[in-house]
Amino acid sequence: MRHLIPSYIRVPLVFFIIAGLVEYFVDSGDQPAFIEQPIILLFLLLVLLILIAIEGIVGSMDNILFQSLDEEGKERYLASRTKTPQFKKVNALYSKLVGKTKPIEEEGEIILDHNYDGIKELDNSLPPWWVYTFYASIIFAVVYLVRYHVLNADDQFAEYETEYAEANRAIEEYKKTAKGLVDFNTVEVLTETSDLNAGQKIFETNCVACHKADGGGGIGPNLADPNWILGGGIKNVFKTISEGGRDGKGMVAWKSELKPLEMAQVSSYVLQFEGTTPAEPKAAEGDVWVEEAPQE
Ligand code: HEC
Repeated sequence: MRHLIPSYIRVPLVFFIIAGLVEYFVDSGDQPAFIEQPIILLFLLLVLLILIAIEGIVGSMDNILFQSLDEEGKERYLASRTKTPQFKKVNALYSKLVGKTKPIEEEGEIILDHNYDGIKELDNSLPPWWVYTFYASIIFAVVYLVRYHVLNADDQFAEYETEYAEANRAIEEYKKTAKGLVDFNTVEVLTETSDLNAGQKIFETNCVACHKADGGGGIGPNLADPNWILGGGIKNVFKTISEGGRDGKGMVAWKSELKPLEMAQVSSYVLQFEGTTPAEPKAAEGDVWVEEAPQE
């Protein structure tokens, strides 16, 4: 086997198989794994070096062993190297498939001696591969006939309709569970208690230092009044939380810390402050936000 594939093919082949496996198993996002994680590049380089080293060592071992053989041994070794491989099994399979069919060069022996206006009959036996394919097609035809014309199974149009309906159902199902796929264009106010409770928790962990637990404001503005510096409404609030406030004001972008769903939850929670009276409300900043009527 070793002599069938030369080393200049074997080494790259094994190398690319290993690199492919690494690529397949390492989750590296859009980038190839070895760019995302330089250590992998190092690993692949090492693999390449080792592969080349193995080739070198095995080659020189071969050489040394060959030199230690006597003349007769050397001759036998060389003879075995030059022998081309015999594909006995393939040949046997081929003759089985062809059977007793005469090849085209010998067809002259089996032509029948009647002659109708120049048309002669050739009495060759059918090759087994052809005969069995023909039997298989007969069985297929019977099954097909019974299934679709007697038992009236779904044809391709009906199959398409069912699969289409199923896929639509799956999409609806997915949309229900995919709250986490929101950005500030698609975000909606969440009203479920579980979401608002989660939002409260996120607010208490990350935001109270600047906005106070009741939204009254401190370093950050009052979140309970109808005035907004950066725009009110779920979409603007989500955007402020995700992208941060104006430079240097202290409100950082939270998108690296919070998942989209978490930002939607805390945005919905923040909107609950409006209309409540905080203990020490900070003076209103920005403009009163009026929700625009949804555009058609
Ligand atoms: C380090 C202090 C600080 C923290 C922590 C902080 N904020 Fe702010 N926040 C601010 C400041 C300052 C502003 C005003 C930004 C500006 O003027 O551009 C602001 C603005 C906002 C606004 C817009 C208010 C408006 O009037 O437009 C919202 C909404 C908001 N923060 C929500 C949050 C949420 C939710 C968290 C927690 C995830 C949070 N903030 C954490 C300081 C902070």
